[in-house]
Amino acid sequence: MSREIRPSQRAVKESSVDVREADADNPVVTLSDDVVTLRPWSRDDAGFMAEACADPAIRRYNGVLDRLGRPTPPLSIVDAEAVIDQFALNWRAFATTQTPSGVAFAIMDARSGDVVGCCGVDDWSKADVAQFGYWIAASARGRGYATRAVILLTRWLFELGAARVFLTIVAENEESVAVARRAGFVYEGTMRSHGVWQARRCDVMWFAALPLEWTMRGPDEQT
Ligand SMILES: CC(C)(COP(=O)(O)OP(=O)(O)OC[C@H]1O[C@@H](n2cnc3c(N)ncnc32)[C@H](O)[C@@H]1OP(=O)(O)O)[C@@H](O)C(=O)NCCC(=O)NCCS
Repeated sequence: MSREIRPSQRAVKESSVDVREADADNPVVTLSDDVVTLRPWSRDDAGFMAEACADPAIRRYNGVLDRLGRPTPPLSIVDAEAVIDQFALNWRAFATTQTPSGVAFAIMDARSGDVVGCCGVDDWSKADVAQFGYWIAASARGRGYATRAVILLTRWLFELGAARVFLTIVAENEESVAVARRAGFVYEGTMRSHGVWQARRCDVMWFAALPLEWTMRGPDEQT
């Protein structure tokens, strides 16, 4: 079975959003702007995921931390396979609920097919508020992949009915703050001492987008 969600007028201009379902229980969602393609993770990507997630910044900003802000050990390939299996289960749940929670996309360079990063929906609340996160492998940063992925993911979440989409970003993470701003997210405030890293408290910033006011830079505009 195949289904296409009609993109909005803005989406037609800036990207194509193509949603396919391999079958009713096992949806395969792909989103693309012809430079970046988002598609579900496959077990074949486990080696890439394990290697990329050994990066100190990904361990700090996307990894699991203990009470003192110490990261868990780097992922093995077996660990990465388990993470990918969980994503697959969450995609199957999405087929039933139509609310994506815990689903993640591999971010791919559309031309080469190389996987360069990850973006995923951490939560979709009962009030239709979605939160997501992202990372790009260290060797693929500085090329706009994250900004494009955030725009594609945000548009998809609005098309699914999200009333609000938000990000929380450690205040020291300037690269991620720049992604949020470039992708049209509005800074809403700072939660002081909300996070902890290596036994030191840190501030966390909120950014959000609302469907009726969301505007972003064109995909080829630089900072
Ligand atoms: C945060 C993170 C994803 C940002 O990655 P990034 O590569 O800097 O972001 P983008 O992919 O949007 O690329 C932006 C850069 O590409 C440039 N660029 C080139 N073409 C571009 C385009 N079409 N659109 C946007 N930027 C473009 C920008 O000018 C910018 O360069 P600059 O850093 O020299 O200013 C990355 O640093 C990362 O993975 N960090 C560790 C994990 C993390 O922090 N995750 C987020 C947790 S909240």
